[in-house]
Amino acid sequence: MALLRVEGLTVRYGALAALNDMSWQVEAGEILGIIGPNGAGKSSCFAAVTNAVRRQGRVHLAGRDVTGVPTYELARLGLRRTFQHNAFFGELTLLENAMAAMLLQHSTSLGRSIAMPWQEAATRRRAERAAAELLTSFGIAPSDHAKRPGDIAYGTQRLLSVVLAYGAGAQALLIDEPAAGTGGPDMKRLADLLVDLRRRGVAVVVIEHHMDLIMTIADRIVVIDQGRKLAEGPPAEIQRNDAVLEAYLGRAA
Ligand SMILES: Nc1ncnc2c1ncn2[C@@H]1O[C@H](COP(=O)(O)OP(=O)(O)OP(=O)(O)O)[C@@H](O)[C@H]1O
Ligand SMILES: [Mg+2]
Repeated sequence: MALLRVEGLTVRYGALAALNDMSWQVEAGEILGIIGPNGAGKSSCFAAVTNAVRRQGRVHLAGRDVTGVPTYELARLGLRRTFQHNAFFGELTLLENAMAAMLLQHSTSLGRSIAMPWQEAATRRRAERAAAELLTSFGIAPSDHAKRPGDIAYGTQRLLSVVLAYGAGAQALLIDEPAAGTGGPDMKRLADLLVDLRRRGVAVVVIEHHMDLIMTIADRIVVIDQGRKLAEGPPAEIQRNDAVLEAYLGRAA
């Protein structure tokens, strides 16, 4: 059974149908790639899945219809999204960012998280250890943990966004252009991170423009063009799909 299944998602901004009758599914331990030209509707799709925009259609998570569930509650259920731009607490260290991410995801209500006894030294030490372990296990070196996000390498910032979204565990992660603005060794680290998430059983959906990255790690690819699904299949098939080549190459020419 698919861990995350979306059906007939449609997003309109005024007269523009940014996303039109989009359906796909992803299983636990699978990487679904989403590609498509600029403005195709990829990010709008993530907004639709996470109920962050007015949309039509249905969303099922782990067999449950979660269409009406608000964004923050979906996050608590383990369906989370990262953004094209970096998003973290700029005034907190990496370690504190990780602690905050884990804390927000673990508590059943905001009230309880506020009431958490952070003052208690032993509790804080435990939380710090867990946060340090989270960062290190995903390849963020301890020498960076006391720094603020703005003071670490850009490639590591991109990694951090994904790690914070995962927090202490997630069922499904929607990752929007993780490799944006990076190249070379950073792309390799990101690829390793995404494959690691798959190994941990997460249902991973990745939007990415870097074809070499997505074609290497994705199990399946959905191509979006002008809000609609243009093609779907394993990377090797997508690479020789005429309609896909036309959408990318024909229009770029
Ligand atoms: N909040 C908004 N209000 C109005 N139009 C929007 C809004 N967000 C996106 N759009 C438009 O909807 C269409 C789809 O945008 P979207 O951001 O989903 O594309 P994308 O595939 O993620 O593109 P990119 O690869 O450039 O990130 C575009 O034409 C965009 O200009
Ligand atoms: Mg986008």
